[in-house]
Amino acid sequence: MVRGFKTLDDIGEVSGKRVLVREDLNVPMADGQVTDDTRLRATLATVTELADRDAIVLVLAHFGRPDGVPSPGMSLAQIVRPYAQVLGRPVRYIDWEGDTAAVATLLPGDIAVLENTRFFGGEEKNDPAVVERFAALGDLYVNDAFSAAHRAHASTEGLAHRLPAFAGRAMEAELDALEKALGDPEHPVAAVVGGAKVSTKLDVLKHLVGRVDHLIIGGGMANTFLAARGVGVGKSLCEHDLAGTAEEIMAAADRAGCTVHLPYDVVVATEFRANPPTRTVNVHEVAADEMILDVGPAAVEALGDVLKTCRTLVWNGPLGAFETPPFDAATVALARTAAALTKEGGLTSVAGGGDTVAALNQAGVADDFTFVSTAGGAFLEWMEGRELPGVAALASG
Ligand code: 3PG
Repeated sequence: MVRGFKTLDDIGEVSGKRVLVREDLNVPMADGQVTDDTRLRATLATVTELADRDAIVLVLAHFGRPDGVPSPGMSLAQIVRPYAQVLGRPVRYIDWEGDTAAVATLLPGDIAVLENTRFFGGEEKNDPAVVERFAALGDLYVNDAFSAAHRAHASTEGLAHRLPAFAGRAMEAELDALEKALGDPEHPVAAVVGGAKVSTKLDVLKHLVGRVDHLIIGGGMANTFLAARGVGVGKSLCEHDLAGTAEEIMAAADRAGCTVHLPYDVVVATEFRANPPTRTVNVHEVAADEMILDVGPAAVEALGDVLKTCRTLVWNGPLGAFETPPFDAATVALARTAAALTKEGGLTSVAGGGDTVAALNQAGVADDFTFVSTAGGAFLEWMEGRELPGVAALASG
C-alpha cells in the first residue's frame, strides 16, 4: 500500500474467488439506448483484468434514484446488453431474488451484473444488514467507482470495512490524477471554475483560493463577481444577493496570493437563443437590456497567456452558455489552448464535473487533457477539499 490504499497489484490470488466490484453504471439513457457509454468504458480495465485473472466478477452498481422501490425503468437489466458490447464479453444479469444460487453457478472468469443496489432502501443508509447481504456474495471487494465515492452507502463505503478492500484501476487512475492536480501539484496552478451559479460552487471557490495561483472564473458565476465589483451586468444571470460572499472570496484570494481572473471583454445579446445578434464589448459597456453569454476573445487570449505560465490546470465548468452557439467560443478556445499546452508537455490538465466533459468533447480535446474525470458530484466535493467516504474507507482498510 504505497498511496494510502491497496490496488489490484496488492489483491493477491483471485482465481476462483468471488470479487464484488463496485462500478458506476449510472449512464444516461434515452429510448432504451445508452447515450454516453463513457462510464461503461471506464470499468473495462478492472473488470477484464479480474476476469482474466480467473476471478468470478460480480459488478455492483446503482442506477438512478429509486429510493428503495424496484422498477423496470431503473433496473440494471437494461444495461447488461450494452455493457456486454462495451466489454466484448458475455455478461450475466442477476436479480435480487435467488442471487445466492445464481452466483453459485458462475465459473472463474465469468462476469455478472447484480441488480440495482438502490432497490434496497438500506443501501443509501449504509444499513449493516444490506452490507451483510452484499458481503455474503463475495470474498473480496474492489471499489472502482470514484464518481459514487462521495456517497457513504453500503456498496460504496460499508463493504470496504466488511471485506478485504482494494481500489480498482479506474479509481486508482482517478485518485492519482487528482492528487497530482490539487493534492501535491506542480506550481503555478490555475483553476478554471465556470457554470451558471456561484451558489452551487461557493465551497469550491473558497477552497481553491488557498490552493491555486490563478483562479479563472467564467460562466454566469463571473457576473456575480463583476456585479460585486460594481460592474453593471444588465439582464445577465447574476446572484446579486451573493455580492458580499463574492467580495469575501476575492479578499481571501488576495490574502493567499491567488490572482482572480474575471473577463474584461464579453459577448452579449438581448435574447438567449442560438445565433442571435451579438456584440463583443468591454464589461463596462453592457447595456441594461443585454445579457453576458460568453467571455470575449481578448480575455480568452489573456487567459491562454496565463495558462502558458502554469504547470497544472484544474477545470470545472464552461466559460459561457456553451450549449447554445456561438456562446461556446470561449470555452472551446481556452480548452484548445490547454490541450495544446498539455500535448507539448508543459501542463498537467485535469478536468471533471457534469457539463465540463461535454464542453471538452464539444471542443474535441477531451483526449488531449492529462485526465478527464467521469465524476460529477464527487469531482465537485473533491474540489471543495472534502474527504470522500468511499475513498476514505479504502484508505482505512
Ligand atoms: C453520478 O451520476 O454522479 C453518480 O452515479 C452518483 O449518483 P447520485 O448523485 O444519484 O448519488
